Amino acid sequence: KQNIAILCSGGDVSGMNPALKRFVEYSLQNNLTPYFVYDGYEGLIDNNIQKASYCDVSGIINRGGTKIGSARSKRFMQVEYRNIAKQNLDALHVTMLIVLGGDGSFRGLHQFYKEHNIKFCGVPSTIDNDISGTDYCLGVDTALNMIKFSIDSIRDTASSFKRAFVIETMGNKCGYLALVSHLTSGSELCLIPETAYNLNEYEQKFKQEIQNGRRYFIAVVAEGIKEDSKEIARWFEEKIGIESRVNVLGHLQRGGNPTVKDRLMAYKFITYAIDALLDNKNETIVCYTKEGFRYKEINAVVNTPYQLDEELIKFINSPKATE
Ligand code: F6P
Repeated sequence: KQNIAILCSGGDVSGMNPALKRFVEYSLQNNLTPYFVYDGYEGLIDNNIQKASYCDVSGIINRGGTKIGSARSKRFMQVEYRNIAKQNLDALHVTMLIVLGGDGSFRGLHQFYKEHNIKFCGVPSTIDNDISGTDYCLGVDTALNMIKFSIDSIRDTASSFKRAFVIETMGNKCGYLALVSHLTSGSELCLIPETAYNLNEYEQKFKQEIQNGRRYFIAVVAEGIKEDSKEIARWFEEKIGIESRVNVLGHLQRGGNPTVKDRLMAYKFITYAIDALLDNKNETIVCYTKEGFRYKEINAVVNTPYQLDEELIKFINSPKATE
């Protein structure tokens, strides 16, 4: 019987708990003994690794976050700690590892593989959706739904006053969350790091819209743009002449009851990951592409810069009807 372990690394996402549940179930079905590594690579180093059972995953499918904890481990970047991690896995005869994380986590994993040859499979998991080679990362749908809920609520108060709301989304250097939220929440302005913009170009249009009766504006901005959200709010006050407020959505975007899409994606990602390991694919990432699920070499994933979907970017510039 072979032993397989799973860990979560980097920013947690809603969908990790459903993934843990599927991991335990599908491992046992395949006659593998499942282990949980607690608190990401930190747990690998500190030997916080425990056998998992059905009981560990009962009642977690509906919960955000991750029951086994996550961490951004600085120690795992150092070779001496990776050696300790390997010794800990060896002591438990764990020969396969699944990592839920982003590309930083995958880089560490790849290094680990090169040094110690432990078979792994990565499952792209980040609300930022900024991993090359996959169109979808676990947790994105739940994050987008949290943002949708937030913007819809803010719209209620924005429309009651005559105000502009600048809503800042997460995403690190990537504008995906902001862009999709803009397109699906009907905001007037979207600023993301991937596209050049000139606020002056909006000035005439927005002023005209106020003249035509517009009461409020919603601007969705990505955390990775060069300006602070407060500067955008000041622009609304000074150039457009409308009172403004800033809402930084922050970590609420990372939590919440996982959506059906994320539960199903978790199920499929883990199934593909375990199948890959059983099929002796030693260093792959499970990617979700327009053609469906595909296994990709980790080199190609971590060494290719992420590109935001060109089709989505085009929509950002589509002219809006003036009210
Ligand atoms: O990578 C996910 C993410 O939520 C980013 O969008 C954000 O920039 C970052 O993590 C926040 O990190 P932390 O939770 O460490 O503050």
